[in-house]
Amino acid sequence: MSDDSSIQLSRPLNILAVSGSLRKASSNSLLVQAIQHLAPAGVAIEVWDDLDALPHFNPDLDVEDAPRIEAVQSWREKVKSADGVVLCTPEYAAGVPGSFKNALDWLVGSGDLADRPVAAISASPYPTAGEHAHTSLMLTLGMLGARVPEGAQLKIGLINRKISPQGEIIDPELKEALKKVLFVLAESVIGQPV
Ligand SMILES: Cc1cc2nc3c(=O)[nH]c(=O)nc-3n(C[C@H](O)[C@H](O)[C@H](O)COP(=O)(O)O)c2cc1C
Repeated sequence: MSDDSSIQLSRPLNILAVSGSLRKASSNSLLVQAIQHLAPAGVAIEVWDDLDALPHFNPDLDVEDAPRIEAVQSWREKVKSADGVVLCTPEYAAGVPGSFKNALDWLVGSGDLADRPVAAISASPYPTAGEHAHTSLMLTLGMLGARVPEGAQLKIGLINRKISPQGEIIDPELKEALKKVLFVLAESVIGQPV
């Protein structure tokens, strides 16, 4: 991978970051906030946090003549207008939280994640780093046709020791790993080799 100084942007990049947790004190939500300060120059990260505004996915509601659902439209627009997306998931019962999977299900019909560069991150307080959720997320992203560069995948174990309750990343290795993920994602957006 090239170093940070070699990234050449012809325009600012807009990255959407999403936490898969609804919990108030969520470590995944702290992470998506924290990465706003770790992006390469010229890359802005916007956090989307309306996960719980989405209705349960139902294909009957996702047809041409169905009434417009504002929350769904807004979610799809956010994804569509982003150059790339960072998804950060906790693990519940060995999988992705249902509410987060629900948000991804709403993108199947719209195709808004197809061919879009995505970084896939899992974070857990356990050493297992949310690996089942990560695997599940990758399977879903595969179905959605998202482009996840290898260097844009990260599994974070023992997250509670690595980020403070105030959202400061206190583990230098994690900070570097996140910077690399964001760099690879930005490279993928502008079409450079990763
Ligand atoms: C009902 C329940 C099930 C859980 N299952 C798992 C699990 O399968 N794997 C895991 O790593 N953590 C599991 N956890 C722990 C969560 O990962 C932990 O609460 C984490 O902090 C949630 O992410 P958040 O901080 O972003 O909200 C579970 C927690 C609860 C309450």
